[in-house]
Amino acid sequence: MCASRRTSTVGEQDASQAQSRRSQRLHGGLPPGPPGLLLLGNLVDLSQKHLPSHLTGLAQRYGRIFTLTCGNSTLVVLNSNDLIKEALVKKWSDFAGRPISYTGDMVSGGGCSVSLGDYSEEWRALRRLVHRSLQRCSQTSLHALIQKQALLLRKVLIGYNGSAVDLSEDFTVAASNVITTLTFEKEVSNCCPLQYEKDSEELQRLHSCLNKIVSLWGSPWISALDCFPLLRKLPNRPFSRLLKEVARRDDIIGAHLNEFKLQDNKSEDSITDSLLKGIDQCIGSAHGVRLTATHLHMAAVDLLIGGTETTAACLNWTVAFLLHRPEVQSQVYEEMCAVLEDRYPHYSDRRRLPLLSAVVSEVLRLRPVAPLAVPHRALRDSSDRRRLPLLSAVVSEVLRLRPVAPLAVPHRALRDSSIAGYFIPKDTLIIPNLFGAHHDPAVWTEPYCFRPERFLEGGGGCAGSLLAFGGGPRRCLGETVAKMELFLFTAYLLRDFQFVSCGEEAGLPDLEGEASVVLKVKSYKVIAVPRPVEHKRDGP
Ligand code: HEM
Repeated sequence: MCASRRTSTVGEQDASQAQSRRSQRLHGGLPPGPPGLLLLGNLVDLSQKHLPSHLTGLAQRYGRIFTLTCGNSTLVVLNSNDLIKEALVKKWSDFAGRPISYTGDMVSGGGCSVSLGDYSEEWRALRRLVHRSLQRCSQTSLHALIQKQALLLRKVLIGYNGSAVDLSEDFTVAASNVITTLTFEKEVSNCCPLQYEKDSEELQRLHSCLNKIVSLWGSPWISALDCFPLLRKLPNRPFSRLLKEVARRDDIIGAHLNEFKLQDNKSEDSITDSLLKGIDQCIGSAHGVRLTATHLHMAAVDLLIGGTETTAACLNWTVAFLLHRPEVQSQVYEEMCAVLEDRYPHYSDRRRLPLLSAVVSEVLRLRPVAPLAVPHRALRDSSDRRRLPLLSAVVSEVLRLRPVAPLAVPHRALRDSSIAGYFIPKDTLIIPNLFGAHHDPAVWTEPYCFRPERFLEGGGGCAGSLLAFGGGPRRCLGETVAKMELFLFTAYLLRDFQFVSCGEEAGLPDLEGEASVVLKVKSYKVIAVPRPVEHKRDGP
């Protein structure tokens, strides 16, 4: 369990009250919004909808910033780039909290993870440590690891012999292999212990276990435990299943970590090694911050959950969009042939391959797989979890519907503040609707069209307006990893294959998407036709 939850000092409280008085003078109240959602049933009803587009629809009616109320809990939804940046970047210190809930604590080792941990010195130390470890691996082993997985993926696709297949599972295995190897492996240059085989039993067990945890945690039967503490005394099958899956997850990850610790020649490049050393140093640090084995364990969970479905969903979206615009696929292929001749691309080639980079950006714009970078709020003490039950339910439901993120949990305002001149009281949940911001006609021309050309010089698009990875101190921790993966996997796939649909119009993928753990494309089949060119070299 986590030792510390951050509590505000007297000085902070005074400053906060002064700010609150200033804020109230601005508009005197919260932003407008639809009538309150009073019943849990309404939440269940909301869960039937594609939440990101539903909220974007509400924005057309109520404006770029609107309020949803649930009993005595308040959510403020931000639907534009400038407002999301105001909250997450400019006023980051006001909105970097996460809500605390009974079930959230169960799945996160008592809030010891980066993604679910509330804002505190301890959380900052953990995030810094994981970030440093990830950066170090990204600079050393990541590139080779992705290349290796991309070539294995190539073999799998060639093995399909031109038949129509759903590639989503292959993308998941490839992304999962990258992050699992990065987290636990000894040395990427050595033979990888996790072979690219769907029957790699343990990897599959861990993956399915993590997925089950995420989807069970979002179920109304489990959210209800956060709303009504008395229900915790009654039998609850979904909750028992959740606890069982959490125990399985902890067994598998614990075994990996122990195995790693026992290795004689640990690689200095591995994330786990870096984390182990960092945790030892933190114990003696001046700030009294104490990171524990639970933090290490939960950091591994963060990386494995955050690093699998997100990247895989993006790759699947890329192929789906390109099937709708086959000419872009050919142009990207021609661009690579002209620039690289007979070799495979390197990440450092990305500026020389502007169309390929534009395709990656356009997919992230149209389908930010974590379309609602979750709520931030203002921090109090542990009694909050009893005071904000419906809020916890909404948060769980939002998480289930939206994305990446089992990991990217809601933000909450750490103190009274303001957004767009509206007063935002402490503890309000802030929902940055990335999907809405990426479809804002004030920023993007023809926002619903797949037009990678917008990111080319003179095309009117601006990669700086993309918010797919959120912003501020809660910005996606795996952004560097994800960007390298998306670029290299997409490059390898389009260098080696032409993707064709299995028929006329009817065979094209439905681009509406379904919000599950992440924002995913509905299942579709595609034919991967190998390109005739034989490549001679694997690197630059
Ligand atoms: C958080 C997007 C890949 C690990 C997030 C957030 C977003 C996001 C929007 C929430 C930010 C917020 O709360 O404001 C994405 C996208 C990805 C991706 C679009 C791929 C296309 C990854 C990968 C990893 C990862 C590969 C791990 C290696 C995390 C973690 C958090 C997070 C640990 C929680 C950060 C925190 O609370 O401080 N991500 N992500 N993500 N992501 Fe990612």
